[in-house]
Amino acid sequence: MKERTRLVHPPQVRPPEDNDPLVAPIYQSVKFGLPTVAETLRSLRGEREGFFYSRSANPTTRQLEQTLAGMQGREEAIVCASGVGAVAQTLLGLLKTDDHVLCFVETYGPTRSLIRRTLQRFGVRHTMLGIEDDEGIERVLATTPTRLVIFESPTNPVTRIADIARVTAAARAHGALTVLDNTLAGLHQHGDTDVDLFVHSLTKYASGHGDVMGGAVIGNSELIRRLRQDFVLLGGVLDPHAAFLIQRGLKTYLHRYEAQCATAQQVAEFLAGHDKVIAVHYPGLPSHHRHELARRQMRHFGTVVSFDMRAGAAAGDRFADALKLFAIAASMGSPESLIIPPGLMTPGDLPAELAGQSGIAPGTVRLSMGLEDPEDLIADISQALESI
Ligand SMILES: Cc1ncc(COP(=O)(O)O)c(C=O)c1O
Repeated sequence: MKERTRLVHPPQVRPPEDNDPLVAPIYQSVKFGLPTVAETLRSLRGEREGFFYSRSANPTTRQLEQTLAGMQGREEAIVCASGVGAVAQTLLGLLKTDDHVLCFVETYGPTRSLIRRTLQRFGVRHTMLGIEDDEGIERVLATTPTRLVIFESPTNPVTRIADIARVTAAARAHGALTVLDNTLAGLHQHGDTDVDLFVHSLTKYASGHGDVMGGAVIGNSELIRRLRQDFVLLGGVLDPHAAFLIQRGLKTYLHRYEAQCATAQQVAEFLAGHDKVIAVHYPGLPSHHRHELARRQMRHFGTVVSFDMRAGAAAGDRFADALKLFAIAASMGSPESLIIPPGLMTPGDLPAELAGQSGIAPGTVRLSMGLEDPEDLIADISQALESI
């Protein structure tokens, strides 16, 4: 071979069959070849194993899918480019014109907008309730034929708790699918419920380092097989390098999540006793209105604590400015602690009467715990509260 040809076709180096790398390699390849047309066709027909094109499947993203399905206690998963991508592609895969969706005032803002704006354009109808309105949920499901219920628990930012058994029982009784955005609770929680599909932002706890985005939908083989046909066409695939980073992050997922929850509990208890705070929203506090339900449903209460400043919105913004260890930034599940102050919190897409039901008060602040020492974080919160 001439020089140019040799450069395009470098030697393949494969470890022997019994000589595995402890960290799986990144298959940073768009295409995979089989030796003949006949074998390629057999592979495309699913008659033999094999990869062809990374928008459909790639060994690195496949490894991540299998890990995630196992963690969530389901058979199958599909990964994609972001959490919002997972929500959007799942809804587009399941819904058609005239279908009805039950969603909630507390639903993550972009999910809400997707339903209220984008899907509405395609003739998908919706009803929006409060996630703790169990009778309302049962009534709507009993009276309005509904394709799916999409919900969260705990909700973001004020940590309301869905009665998951009650929601899934009502949905099952009336033929509606349940989709739980389980991002805040994490991949290791709620697997023992009757939820049909879990969606996750892998950008948060799974990757864990704030340096990569990803999303996933997880469920039984049949539902995921059907959704995969749409995901491949919608095209929001996860790059193998991002999949590798998330797979690497998962090795420390439980250690990080447990440490961040322990910190959240301490921070919530500190805030609950502070005279500049009127209310603390954390399901791990016995004073949380659904603490007992959260105890039954959850192994850990989560890493997000929100609270309402007695002196209102401007004081909340000054508090954020005064903090030294919490960055004013979106997201959660990073090594660094983060804060969303009142000025960045308003549920802008909701009409006033619905915004009023969201539980977000003028002085609501959201804290997301990082991996710093809890004593340092509490000292920082304390000095910032004293300074305003
Ligand atoms: C509950 C929830 N779902 C979905 C998302 C979207 O995830 P991503 O930022 O990966 O698109 C977020 C992000 O904050 C979230 O909090």
